[in-house]
Order: sequence, then structure tokens, then C-alpha cells
Amino acid sequence: MAVAAPVNENDKPQTGAAGRPPKPRVAVAGASGYAGQELVRILARHPAVTLTAAMSSGASSTPRPMPALARIWDREVTPLDIDQLSASADIVFLALPEAASAEIAPKLLERGVRVIDLSGAFRIRDASDRRRWYPATATLPPGTIYGLPERDAAAIKDARLVSCPGCYPTAALLALQPLADAGLLEGTVIVDAKSGISGAGKAPSDRTHFSENHGSVAAYGVFSHRHNAEIEQELKREVTFVPHLVPLDRGILETIYVSLGKGTTEAQVAGALEDAYRDAAFVRLTGAALPEIKHVAHSNFCDIGWKVDEGRHRAALIAVLDNLVKGAAGQAVQNLNIVLGLDERTGLL
Ligand SMILES: NC(=O)c1ccc[n+]([C@@H]2O[C@H](COP(=O)([O-])OP(=O)(O)OC[C@H]3O[C@@H](n4cnc5c(N)ncnc54)[C@H](OP(=O)(O)O)[C@@H]3O)[C@@H](O)[C@H]2O)c1
Repeated sequence: MAVAAPVNENDKPQTGAAGRPPKPRVAVAGASGYAGQELVRILARHPAVTLTAAMSSGASSTPRPMPALARIWDREVTPLDIDQLSASADIVFLALPEAASAEIAPKLLERGVRVIDLSGAFRIRDASDRRRWYPATATLPPGTIYGLPERDAAAIKDARLVSCPGCYPTAALLALQPLADAGLLEGTVIVDAKSGISGAGKAPSDRTHFSENHGSVAAYGVFSHRHNAEIEQELKREVTFVPHLVPLDRGILETIYVSLGKGTTEAQVAGALEDAYRDAAFVRLTGAALPEIKHVAHSNFCDIGWKVDEGRHRAALIAVLDNLVKGAAGQAVQNLNIVLGLDERTGLL
């Protein structure tokens, strides 16, 4: 297949300085969106890769400067061009609506480019569930891996397409997976989630309009949110998930209610979490000092706190993260670091 010529000197495969291998080239599609801008911000300063291209939507849009990224990324964001994208990068991040990802990712893979996708397009493995939640995705390309870095690093390393977890599922899975693995959970799990408005992307709607959500809190998507299916798929158990929009620009807080097996102690809950995250760069366990969104905003951390009611065999876990960083761009770069065999913290701390 013909590959378009790079349009900029920086886009050509880099020759390394004496004795050093060239840096891998990365590019971002969806760079004018909320998650895409975070990606550009992180990747432009990442010491081990070269950011070669940042693209917005298709041919009808024109190149535009990004004022928030001045002096961080001084090149323009250009209209999407798949040939240019694949010619200018070894690894492409897709921060696009899922239907666009579903269409573009296979074309990039065909051209030999590895893909890190932030959308939900490739998260659901069961074909009938996928038809319901992500109808634009006919099949999962070979080499697709669901990539929660703290859990899936071994598989992510060799993935052709890393499908990054959703923002709500990231917090829920990081809190719940260690308890599930330790066999401590009984019965249904309830995830009561609150998200800032940037979780809905930059296009305003009736629900996300400032005058609708300022001074208010609203539940939405009750029993009909696709992240419910994703959490259940990954946790392999039934979960009741109720998301709420809160009048913050960014951040997620989940209060997670679980029933524990009879006789389960606080020490067992703490031990399961501590064992899972002893070496995790971006999970901070706060125990009984319950975490807050402000502690993680603009960072790639997920903070998890908990209280256990031993007498009534139940626990509440509180998990917080920044939906645009650990819930999107930061986690995607953490996955890039795993793919490249780098320290997971590279460019993120
Ligand atoms: N926001 C979050 O907290 C969050 C968290 C985790 C995952 N995600 C996922 O990440 C993806 C991006 O989310 P976002 O919130 O950043 O969305 P967003 O703010 O709406 O940005 C969407 C981006 O995609 C581009 N785009 C739209 N339609 C396109 C098309 N047909 N072809 C090519 N480019 C197109 C837009 O370009 P223009 O500027 O030209 O329109 C823009 O750059 C979504 O799949 C979302 O589900 C988001």
C-alpha cells in the first residue's frame, strides 16, 4: 500500500544522536478535543518520543492554532488525513468519537501503525453486547487488548491496538479488582459515580450546558450506561452503576458499596489493596483518610480510600481520578510507556 510522504521534517523517522536509537514517533487524532489536548500536552514534553502530528476532524476543518498549548506545542492542529497520520507516526493515539475510531483504527493497523484508542469502540468483547453499545464496531481487530495498565501490563506490551478503559470503569476496576481477586466480594456491587462535565466532551448539550448543571447534581444513564457493561465484563460480576453529573469541570468520585463474606476483616480488605498496588506508580491508597477530587486533579493518580463495617459485613470504597488524565490521556500514555518498555512514569510524573 502506498504511504503518503511526511509533510514536515519532524515527521520523518528520526535518526538518533550518535549511539542512541531514534525516538519512536507518535501522533494524536482528535487533538482539538478535551482528551486530545491533554494528550498533546503530555506527549509534547515526553522525553522518549517525538510528537509529529496533531489532527482534528476531517477535510471540512482548517488548520488551527491551540492557544492553551502555546509554547508546549507550537505547530497547528491539522484536519484528519489518514495517509499523513500513518506516514508520520509509529504509534497513533485516537481521541475520537467511537464511530470515528471504529472506522480509522483498522486502516491504521493495516498500514502497520500501532494504535492506542481512548474511545469505547474496542472495549467490549462479546459481539452482541458490542452491537448494543458500540454498533459501529463490527469486529475487534487481531491484537486488540483492553488495557488497564495496573492489571494488564503483560498483554499491553505486545498489543497492536490498546483499547484504554473508560473513565468511570478505570476508577471502579482499580478499587474492586483486588477485592474480587481475593474472593472478598459477595452479592451485588453498587457504584455510585459523580463526574465533572468534561467527561461528556467539548460539544455542549442540554445536559452539559453551564446554566443546566451549575448549582445542580443530576443522575443519568441509570441501567442504560455502556460503562456498566464494561465494568461487568472486566470484573466478571453483576454491578449496579449509577452515574451523576456534578458542576465541576473535571474529576470523578465513585462511592462503591460492597457486601463482604461473613468474617471478612478490615485487615483483609486493606491487605488485598496493598498487595495489588505495592509497586503501582499511579494508585495511592489512602485507607480511612478518604480521598477527594482536588487531590488528583490534573494528575495521573487514582486515589482509593475505604471504610469497613466488620459487624455488618460491608465496606464502602471511595475512588477518585481526573477523567481527562488517569481516565483518558494520562492512562493512554501510561500504556504507551508499557508498549515501549519504558518506566510507566515517563512523561507523567
Ligand atoms: N472526556 C473524557 O473525560 C473522556 C474520558 C475517557 C475517554 N474518552 C473518550 O475519548 C474520546 C474523545 O473524547 P473527548 O471528550 O476528548 O471528545 P471531544 O472533546 O468531543 O473531542 C473529539 C475530538 O474528535 C474530533 N472528531 C470529531 N468527529 C470526528 C470524525 N468524524 N473524524 C475525525 N475526528 C473527529 C474532534 O475534532 P473537531 O474539533 O474538529 O470537532 C475533536 O478533536 C471519546 O471517544 C470519549 O468517549 C473521553
